[in-house]
Amino acid sequence: MPTIASDATWWRQAAVYQIYPRSFADSNGDGIGDLKGITAKIPYLVELGIDAVWLSPFYPSALADGGYDVDDYRNVDPRIGTLEDFDEMSAALHAAGIKIIVDIVPNHTSDRHEWFQEALASPKGSAARERYIFRDGKGENGELPPNSWGSIFGGGAWEQITEPDGAPGQWYFHFFAKEQPDLNWDNPEVHEDFLKTLRFWADRGVSGFRVDVAHMLKKNLDPAYDALRTLMFGEASVFHDGQHPLFDRDEVHEIFADWRKVFNEYNPPRTAVAEAWVPAHRRARYASPEGLGQAFNFDLLQADFDAAQFRKIIADNLAFAAESGTSSTWVFSNHDVIRHATRYALPGNAAKAGAQWLLDGGDPAALDIPRGLRRAKAATLLMLALPGSAYLYQGEELGLQEAGQIPSEQRQDPTFFRTQGEQIGRDGCRVPLPWEPDGTSFGFGPAGAHLPQPEWFAHYAASVEEKDPASTLAFYRRALALRHELQGAETLVWEQASDDSVLHFVRPGGWHVVANFGSAPVALPAGEVLLVSADVEDGKLLGEATAWIRA
Ligand code: GLC
Ligand code: CA
Repeated sequence: MPTIASDATWWRQAAVYQIYPRSFADSNGDGIGDLKGITAKIPYLVELGIDAVWLSPFYPSALADGGYDVDDYRNVDPRIGTLEDFDEMSAALHAAGIKIIVDIVPNHTSDRHEWFQEALASPKGSAARERYIFRDGKGENGELPPNSWGSIFGGGAWEQITEPDGAPGQWYFHFFAKEQPDLNWDNPEVHEDFLKTLRFWADRGVSGFRVDVAHMLKKNLDPAYDALRTLMFGEASVFHDGQHPLFDRDEVHEIFADWRKVFNEYNPPRTAVAEAWVPAHRRARYASPEGLGQAFNFDLLQADFDAAQFRKIIADNLAFAAESGTSSTWVFSNHDVIRHATRYALPGNAAKAGAQWLLDGGDPAALDIPRGLRRAKAATLLMLALPGSAYLYQGEELGLQEAGQIPSEQRQDPTFFRTQGEQIGRDGCRVPLPWEPDGTSFGFGPAGAHLPQPEWFAHYAASVEEKDPASTLAFYRRALALRHELQGAETLVWEQASDDSVLHFVRPGGWHVVANFGSAPVALPAGEVLLVSADVEDGKLLGEATAWIRA
């Protein structure tokens, strides 16, 4: 049985498993995963050997953006359960030694949130409107948006409202879907309310928070910036001095300094991880002990399966984390990206090739699935040996592939609709999990599933993999159990590798990690082979494989 650190530093090298609640396990047959479903699967989580679960939003929501459009931050969506179900799940997880991280979505509420409804019903200039970002339109009658900024999900970033008297009215800013109006973080009431939300969940035994788009809360919508046409994540690079009108502004850290004070009211202090799409050198302030404590590092997720890229990313991020007195995070898959077993099953740049594959119809026949899985396991075994916390996404432990072929009419991601299908969106990694090889929803629940599961999901069923010592699930279990045993100080020493396509490092206690990104077999250092992601032949590690060795 894995043991978990109960001290204030438990998160520093934790293995955190992300649950997308609607797609994990459905207890009552309405096709939607729920909290009781999670509770029922705790034995599975214990066997897997994780330290914490991170739950994507389970709050009341119209699901315009998969729950990232929150109606009420201090409640549970009735389709997912009740606060009592949450307490029951929390008690059972804690009894099993698993901590809980919840998702906090502070950049925007849903348009059904009582604040937004109040803003719509209140006049221009009212206090209710001041909680959001309202502006008058341009043109003779205000019929044009205040500026030409675009939403990351496609289309414009402004939506016009109808005033309470029926006249065409002001416009509000929404960087995401129009159902996700951005909050005005210059308003102290907004700030106070989120402190209340943090305390609400911390009081309920939550150990940490994943902070959605943490880098966007503070904005400067001065019309002086209006001329900047598109303001997409990637194009923000021109502004990495903390002065971009929307992203990564220096003042955002004033918010998190106050959150930290709340976290430190608890024993052990609550922790948080920022989802901040900023370059590595700007990550330190989000991750600092005076701020949220940790920040996601998406560098490996965006990299190719390439030794030199991996090595640089690992070295840089360990250095940045050390600089800010924290530990790094590592992640290959989450609810926003194409599953890594699928990205790696494509030739060329993993991320770009994945997007193109989806556009081309997402046909599994176009994938080299054995290769994708081989590389995914090699990369994961490397990641699980790194100092810092490892974030795993539900289903990756089964080697699950992206479901690329969802019929348009069954898609849910606003990205798909707002771009008229030019971007396929993220539904393919959010398809409910296969627990059994048969049944109406492969054991996801007693009835159907809210997104269609392809036939081939049967091959990845947890119940089948549980019985197979050669399965991906068995491999993850073994890796996580060993990680617990082997993990010591957060240091790593690089060894000279035999070849440019090989990485070799040692963790304290003689834990050697050799990752072969090339295709030719390579010699392994002397010692006991603890785990390999593929076979060892004649004492050599095969191509696209990682080995853990105790020397
Ligand atoms: C984050 C979430 C993503 C969501 C967006 C808006 O990037 O991970 O799923 O769509 O924020 O809340
Ligand atoms: Ca359900």
